[in-house]
Amino acid sequence: MQNNTFSGLFVGQNLVTLTEVDSTNNFLKQALANSTPLTDGTVIMAESQFAGRGQQQNKWHSEPGKNLTFSILLKPTFLPVNQQFNLNLAISVGIINALTKVLGTGVKIKWPNDVYFNDKKLGGVLIENIIQGQSIKNSIVGIGLNVNQTEFAGWVPNPISVKQILQKDYELKLLLSDICACIEAAYLILKAGNIARLKAFFMQNLYWLDELRPFKTGEHVFNGIIKDVTQTGQLAVSIDGELRLYSFKEIEFLNKS
Ligand code: BTN
Repeated sequence: MQNNTFSGLFVGQNLVTLTEVDSTNNFLKQALANSTPLTDGTVIMAESQFAGRGQQQNKWHSEPGKNLTFSILLKPTFLPVNQQFNLNLAISVGIINALTKVLGTGVKIKWPNDVYFNDKKLGGVLIENIIQGQSIKNSIVGIGLNVNQTEFAGWVPNPISVKQILQKDYELKLLLSDICACIEAAYLILKAGNIARLKAFFMQNLYWLDELRPFKTGEHVFNGIIKDVTQTGQLAVSIDGELRLYSFKEIEFLNKS
């Protein structure tokens, strides 16, 4: 266990900083497979990932030493499998809170797991749950945030960093500590069963909520209005007055790039 100066009760109290790793999510997954004893809230942070993973089998690229790439181990054994989207809600709420303190208004969650600042992608979340029976034994919450990087390769979609917003460098450990504290607070709200509070905050900060916007499903392009996110995490979009539900990967936002 490495000491740190994080506030809070458990998230980040055991902080392991790696110089280089394939992926912090993989590192935690492997440690769990090897039955390495790890406390709830353990954070694995990497200065450099050489095979960082994103949603939908995408790669997550991050310039070494400039950004936050870390994974939090949580043990939400109190959460039934069919309520696992509530963990996404809690993580999103924690991240929005922490980043809003630093950046002010403009921080949004683009369904399902992208962290946006206005119309640009600041980061993303990759949650991998390990299920046992009807509950979640372990959850690996991987978070990547662009912090001090200012040049992005062409194939990175729509990126922005904290430095590009604030016009100055931001201390990585300070931001990590704030995010851990805010995620812990939201996680404790989840544990107390106050899902309505998390959901309300999540909806207030949902990208494109209640706006007529262009989407794509397969080859079909259409305008729709996001109305809700269901308990199982589906996106509810109103199209010509009719409400349709979409699962992850079934609908694409047509952002201007
Ligand atoms: C996405 O937007 O597609 C999700 C990106 C998640 C990236 C983070 S970086 C830390 C952790 N380790 C990984 O390999 N992925 C997540």
